[in-house]
Amino acid sequence: MLVAPSLLAADFGNLEREMAWFNESRADYLHLDVMDGVFVPNISFGFPVLKHVARLCRKPLDVHLMIVEPQKFIREVADLGAHYMNIHYEAVTHHHRVIQQIREAGMHPAITLCPSTPVSLLHDIIAEVDMVLLMSVNPGFGGQKFIPQTLRKVQELRQLIRESGSRAVIEIDGGVNHETGQQLAEAGADVLVAGSYVFGAEHPTERIDVLKALS
Ligand code: DX5
Ligand code: ZN
Repeated sequence: MLVAPSLLAADFGNLEREMAWFNESRADYLHLDVMDGVFVPNISFGFPVLKHVARLCRKPLDVHLMIVEPQKFIREVADLGAHYMNIHYEAVTHHHRVIQQIREAGMHPAITLCPSTPVSLLHDIIAEVDMVLLMSVNPGFGGQKFIPQTLRKVQELRQLIRESGSRAVIEIDGGVNHETGQQLAEAGADVLVAGSYVFGAEHPTERIDVLKALS
């Protein structure tokens, strides 16, 4: 299993210390949650913090933009050196154009669905993206309870990817722990995001190892 711990649950007063152990861990990506207070009912952090974290982090960045009009910030996200630029399906009108622009900027385009957005909407765009992120909680806050219907969506998405020949990986975000992680692994997930389960733990690297071992 690939694992992307979410910085949202980290100690922002000690980012150097958090990144020091994180860089030595077996995590595959660092997941960064940007919230604008408009698309979601919360505000997290913006580019000054992201630039600081990008300098400290030696793992590839998975930038999850919970903002309206994410296409306005393609250049800024690319300048961070981001690996994935994750935009919400619900926040964009011209998905095809924005996805091409993200790729042209040198990043891997990824599209995110809220819990109530059906997988079937991806039919005509699945071949263009490198990742689909299924939200397993309503976006905006860490520490929420996993929505079990996500498991069915993972299976449906796995089938869509197979049928379309897309190379997209399936990422899941929200309420991930060892139990929900195991269910998600069985349903066909490739990447697990985990905020409070990792950064909220006394021994975060052990939690990362637990998720890494899921299959
Ligand atoms: C929620 C964010 C998540 C969040 C997950 O809107 O997208 O990435 O950090 O937090 P946990 O793992 O605590 O549910
Ligand atoms: Zn996220």
